[in-house]
Amino acid sequence: MAKITASVYTSHVPAIGAALDQGKDQEPYWQPLFKGYKFSQQWLKDNTPDVIFLVYNDHATAFSLDMIPTFAIGTAAEYAPADEGWGPRPVPTVIGHPELAAHIAHSVIQDDFDLTIVNKMAVDHGLTVPLSLMCGQPDAWPCPVIPFAVNVVQYPVPSGRRCFMLGQAIRKAVESYDQPLKVQIWGTGGMSHQLQGPRAGLINKAWDNAFLDRLIADPEGLSQVPHIDYVREAGSEGIELVMWLIARGAMADVNPGAAPGAAGGPAPKVAHRFYHVPASNTAVGHLILENT
Ligand code: DHB
Ligand code: FE
Repeated sequence: MAKITASVYTSHVPAIGAALDQGKDQEPYWQPLFKGYKFSQQWLKDNTPDVIFLVYNDHATAFSLDMIPTFAIGTAAEYAPADEGWGPRPVPTVIGHPELAAHIAHSVIQDDFDLTIVNKMAVDHGLTVPLSLMCGQPDAWPCPVIPFAVNVVQYPVPSGRRCFMLGQAIRKAVESYDQPLKVQIWGTGGMSHQLQGPRAGLINKAWDNAFLDRLIADPEGLSQVPHIDYVREAGSEGIELVMWLIARGAMADVNPGAAPGAAGGPAPKVAHRFYHVPASNTAVGHLILENT
């Protein structure tokens, strides 16, 4: 059977992708940021999974205001890097895993989560920047990726609670797949940032670090935080952080289907934790949690 081996959490600031693509990653502004991912790139080489289930948000690139799926799973064989206005990023095409994606779609939909099935889409910085941060600039990404897009751009957005429960359903789906695949689940976006309006530039270091603490040690409690608290405390784009709860809900210490508070498996090992301000307008947070 397939299993979830680890979860990775990281911000997805588009300027990080531009810095890499333009060879600026060793400039003084960017150097401390990329230093924080040195460990992670080696860790991913040492712990390459068979598939990455990558939870991210599209920024009105593949989807527009014409159509706004709350949760969309990519079931395609491949995904082209999107043109977000400056041409597509010069990064590899993302290879999908249609069989596992279709299995997860079946299981999660039968578990009462309404997913949109996407057979064709381009992937924007929300997906490609986390891959670049974790993999550097390879000729091909190290394994197939299942893109899972969450609407955190246009209101109403899903609650943290629902995201956390969805993570549990995704784990159940992975564990019922009849192939011995090692699957990582990545939760991306965040941390605090606000890109527009009078509060543009908002960063809340204390809130971000408390979020990281609770994501590690009290994810169930953290999942109860209402969306308006994210917006007030972490800025209008800070709401991207609810996606991290999908990945956290899929870890072994969370007990799918059990009563709230019931014990699950062992707590994950914190393999790496990093926080850096600023990257463009955003506070960058990053965690690697391993199932033990
Ligand atoms: C920035 C951050 C984002 O999450 C995004 O989608 C676009 C821009 C920024 O900090 O510049
Ligand atoms: Fe974003």
